[in-house]
Amino acid sequence: MAIISTIGDLLEFFGVTYRQVLFGGIVIYGTTVTFYRLFLSPLRSIPGSLLSHLSISHMRIMTALGKLPDMCEDDYYKYGDIFITAPDIVTISNPADCRKVLSSYTFVKNKFYESLRLVDETLFTTSDPDLNSTRRRQIGPAFTQGALQKMEPTIMECGIIALKRKWDRLIGENGGVAKINYSLEFQLVTYDVISVLGYGHRFSALEKGETTIVNWVENYSLLALFKAVIPSVTEFPMSLLCRPLLKSYKEYVDFTDATAEHRREQIRQGQKVPNDLLQALVDGEDPESKAKMTPSQVTAENIDILAAAINTTTHTMTWTLHYLMLYPECYRKAVDEVRSVFAPDHLIGYSEGRSQLPYVEACIYESMRIHAATGIFLPRVVPPGGVTFQGHFIPAGLSVGVNIAGMNHHQSLWKDSKRFMPERFIENPDLKQQVMTFSTGVRIC
Ligand code: HEM
Repeated sequence: MAIISTIGDLLEFFGVTYRQVLFGGIVIYGTTVTFYRLFLSPLRSIPGSLLSHLSISHMRIMTALGKLPDMCEDDYYKYGDIFITAPDIVTISNPADCRKVLSSYTFVKNKFYESLRLVDETLFTTSDPDLNSTRRRQIGPAFTQGALQKMEPTIMECGIIALKRKWDRLIGENGGVAKINYSLEFQLVTYDVISVLGYGHRFSALEKGETTIVNWVENYSLLALFKAVIPSVTEFPMSLLCRPLLKSYKEYVDFTDATAEHRREQIRQGQKVPNDLLQALVDGEDPESKAKMTPSQVTAENIDILAAAINTTTHTMTWTLHYLMLYPECYRKAVDEVRSVFAPDHLIGYSEGRSQLPYVEACIYESMRIHAATGIFLPRVVPPGGVTFQGHFIPAGLSVGVNIAGMNHHQSLWKDSKRFMPERFIENPDLKQQVMTFSTGVRIC
């Protein structure tokens, strides 16, 4: 009380109110920060919009609107190899600079990834190099060519065969023509494939429109995004605001826990189990330390893998088909290639497709290059000592965002970079190594 009355007396002495002091404080703080960012910050001479120099809100708004990838691409064309995206985030697009950042664990993932974590630390969200490399050794075998080949019949059955069956039925029912939302259909078929591999459970999202898993994953991703913006969103009282999301999250985690437990029980009873992702996670063992994952880690990884796989795969298929629609001459060439190599009713497997359909493969590369599905902007922390890119020093502790779109459109590598030209990969197959859609280095997809 004594202090309050003293402050009150002081304000009265100077003839100002609390409100005026508060307002004045905000103005002084704002002016100091603005002055620092524009005239003193070590990043002040890096190109970029005034808004990006002054505040992170621009980047947050673009992220929330799903426009960050477009912004990264546009800003590359506007500013070139290096530009500011937020007061403490520098975006780089020069392939050599980007490779330097991604090639080792020196530049670790920044806090954004941690904030996406809901169940447990995972391969994707961790910034700890030891945990990441252990997890890669535990899970890696699931993604080898041999392991994927064993999963191929399931992928075919729940994927292309199911899709063809449905589209043929729709065409038959509609007198030879059907209107199809291929983006949605690709999304549903991807859910079916990934969830049968990750849960051993067929949801039939494509055939029966059963969208339980779709809702779980979408709600989970939304909750993770909210948590990245408001970290306390899962705690009381903030949790009251997103009760439906938290309810859905709990159901999803319980279901994931239960499927892994069911699989462990099947193994204990000596039953025959499928060669799928779930099995790889349950079995996953680090050959060096012999460490296996705990049940909570298996659940967290399974949920993250599903989230990492769905939209990326869906967008890649959608954009590839979309470009083929936009460029009918490329579509014709792709169809002619398929027809000249395989009989009309032949079900094309992965290996034969890759080895015998170079033009179709080039179309997929070109679509992934022009429009990388996701992960356009990969933020990493500058290590002690700082780093210099394109003549600009970036101090330790700040973030550099690796601009996948910038690399995939880089003028030094890609002629007529906005144009869909699969032929570039036929003329120079080495260019495939320069497509950075899956990232590169130690945290490559
Ligand atoms: C066309 C499809 C895909 C694209 C374009 C893609 C792209 C990427 C990119 C750019 C990263 C790096 C992210 C970063 O460093 O922030 C990444 C990481 C990752 N992706 Fe994919 N991805 C695709 C499909 C998949 C699939 C099908 C799975 C699993 C079944 C998967 C699982 C992962 C995982 C676990 C990571 C984290 C790796 C780590 O941090 O060490 N992705 N992906």
